[in-house]
Amino acid sequence: MIDQAEKLRLRMNQISETVQNKEEVKNVPNQEGFKSARVIAVTSGKGGVGKSSLSVNLALQLQKAGKKTVIIDTDFGLANIEVMLGIRPRSNMADLLFHDKRIEDIITKGPLDLGFISGGSGVQELSTLSKEEIQEFSSKLSLLDDMADVIIIDTGAGISDAVLEFLLCAPEVLVVVTPEPTSITDAYSLLKTLNRNPGFDMKDKRISIVVNRVTYKNHGLEIFNKISMVATNFLKMRLEYFGEITYDDKVSRAIIAQKPVTLAYPNSRSAKDIEMLAGKLLDESSIKENKGGFARFFTDFLKNNKHK
Ligand SMILES: Nc1ncnc2c1ncn2[C@@H]1O[C@H](COP(=O)(O)OP(=O)(O)OP(=O)(O)O)[C@@H](O)[C@H]1O
Ligand SMILES: [Mg+2]
Repeated sequence: MIDQAEKLRLRMNQISETVQNKEEVKNVPNQEGFKSARVIAVTSGKGGVGKSSLSVNLALQLQKAGKKTVIIDTDFGLANIEVMLGIRPRSNMADLLFHDKRIEDIITKGPLDLGFISGGSGVQELSTLSKEEIQEFSSKLSLLDDMADVIIIDTGAGISDAVLEFLLCAPEVLVVVTPEPTSITDAYSLLKTLNRNPGFDMKDKRISIVVNRVTYKNHGLEIFNKISMVATNFLKMRLEYFGEITYDDKVSRAIIAQKPVTLAYPNSRSAKDIEMLAGKLLDESSIKENKGGFARFFTDFLKNNKHK
């Protein structure tokens, strides 16, 4: 049985080699004693489409189903998730960077014991770090693989550099759209930007679409078919349909009450839809191959940034 300090040292060596070699990393070796978490980035072209609400409720449903889940809020501008969960984290990623905290110290527990990490200003400050600092930081973060089965990353709206990097590194990207035409065209722009990036590789990637705020059954599938058709024809991108969530006033009521809708109104239409989506994710997780988890995610993230 290796203790955590030993694990950290081993992991640091792996990451340090990977960063130094700068070679194409297909997978950070998954040595005995390490497991890999499933990493899912939730994003959208247009803001305000329901990313944070979906991330929180999906994470809670996974947690409820026995998957240890951690949600990371990388939207440093607005503290969306903590408000939705009704919690106040005492630390964030920047503390891991500058205040010598351990990963356990920056995880705040939410409802159902869900793990929550606030990005704080930490995500932005990554670009100012030296290579040694980066290595230390990423080795600390990679211990999350041991602590979580699923890591959900809620990205901010739009296509900032940081968001793009997250999307390039995440093995699974969940794009949230609504039936509004602007949401659809913005989602297409996001896919186009992603596709154009030299670091983008569709091979290792799974991009799924979830349609939020639908008003009738299979509305989501109609929207998906539109996006999928243009993505296939013009970008040669294969998208998957994840599902739909019904428009439901309970979602905003829940946000006002600072209680996630799946807990506050478990029998509401939207809660049932999200529960079904979580079930779909769980089904898939049993058949998904191991993609290297958060350690891989982070080494890729660092490789793509300018810490050479
Ligand atoms: N299924 C739904 N039915 C009705 N309203 C919804 C639904 N999903 C989300 N909303 C509403 O949409 C608003 C935005 O949701 P949320 O904050 O989750 O979006 P976001 O994509 O994370 O926004 P941002 O881009 O600002 O981070 C919320 O006020 C919420 O009430
Ligand atoms: Mg949000």
